[in-house]
Amino acid sequence: MKTYRAAVIGCSRMGAFIDNEVPDYEAIKLPYSHAAGFFAEERTDLIACADLRPEVMEQFGNQYDVPKEHQYTDYREMIEKAQPDIVSVATQPEHRAEIVIYAAEHGVKAVYAEKAMAASMDEAAAMVSAVEENNVAFNLGTNRRWHTGFDKMKEVIDSGEIGRLRTLIIYSNGTLFNTASHNLDLILRLNSDVPASWVTGYLPQGNSVFDGDVLNADPSGAGTIYFENGVTAHALLTPRSSEWEAICDGGTVTCWNNGWQWHIRKNQDVPGWRACKVPDTFPEFERTSSTANLIKDLIHSLDTRQPTRGGVRCAYASTELIFGIIESHLQNGKRIELPLIDSKTRLQRNPTARQPRFN
Ligand SMILES: NC(=O)c1ccc[n+]([C@@H]2O[C@H](COP(=O)([O-])OP(=O)(O)OC[C@H]3O[C@@H](n4cnc5c(N)ncnc54)[C@H](O)[C@@H]3O)[C@@H](O)[C@H]2O)c1
Repeated sequence: MKTYRAAVIGCSRMGAFIDNEVPDYEAIKLPYSHAAGFFAEERTDLIACADLRPEVMEQFGNQYDVPKEHQYTDYREMIEKAQPDIVSVATQPEHRAEIVIYAAEHGVKAVYAEKAMAASMDEAAAMVSAVEENNVAFNLGTNRRWHTGFDKMKEVIDSGEIGRLRTLIIYSNGTLFNTASHNLDLILRLNSDVPASWVTGYLPQGNSVFDGDVLNADPSGAGTIYFENGVTAHALLTPRSSEWEAICDGGTVTCWNNGWQWHIRKNQDVPGWRACKVPDTFPEFERTSSTANLIKDLIHSLDTRQPTRGGVRCAYASTELIFGIIESHLQNGKRIELPLIDSKTRLQRNPTARQPRFN
């Protein structure tokens, strides 16, 4: 079987060392970072890395056997010299589009880009064009799309055993780029990637995060999304973090504790009650690494030229929901019809990179 050459751009937490932050976390199976995923995968060779911080790359080299001569401070030079088949882009969203577009236009065959996809809708659209014009396999790092527990939750919904899906709830949508990017992708997936018709939203911080069209912080955002199949999603901001619920005509399926536990309740006629909801058993599933599954999906696409489970259009769809919530806030809660046009907002925080935990 062919082995693909992989390289990581942005060698910090999600790029390389986040595994050290979650060694015993029930909700996440390792490998978690991009580098750990490529290192563990027998079909990929991790051959190079790029970051602006040589000291971080030195640790990367020690951990993942990438020698100094294959560590680059200029990602363009890395792509030209190392010629990777697969490139990870684990920088912050402000730096994502330029790198993904350059990689797509310079011979890279597959891209694993971190969420959020991009800092503006214009950048996201340019990424879609570059990826599609160059026939690049693409997955966004919205890990729950490749999490076997959420696969099972979707199977329960799709089986019809608790009736037709009506409502999806995100209990804590969080900051739009860092956290809601995961949540919005998850509800798209649970609703089989049916397009959204409209979105409304608000940012509790108000307008202090805007400097004209520039968003100078990643704001929390809540909202409502209505899908073409009549399903409604409510993205709440409650203290009940990392929990999600699908409400169907005949029951509910709920994820607790960020992908650790799932619960089903089914409608049942109980004397004295109508349609009382009683607990049922969530099916067994094998817990595997969602990062490993995402990488295997890219490899499968490279082997077969079949589309990936995510793909650049899915990434664009969740990005459109982020910017739709922002646009609705800017228009005092107006319902924003999708596709979103004329979004001028751009995230620009001048982020300083964080210090990863090396062990
Ligand atoms: N999927 C997940 O579960 C998950 C978890 C954590 C973080 N993330 C996402 O991963 C991304 C990175 O997060 P982080 O916490 O690792 O960020 P970070 O800020 O710690 O690291 C970003 C790295 O990118 C490097 N960088 C910036 N510009 C570069 C360039 N032009 N060329 C090469 N390197 C460059 C920085 O030097 C830094 O080392 C974010 O978008 C974040 O939302 C995803």
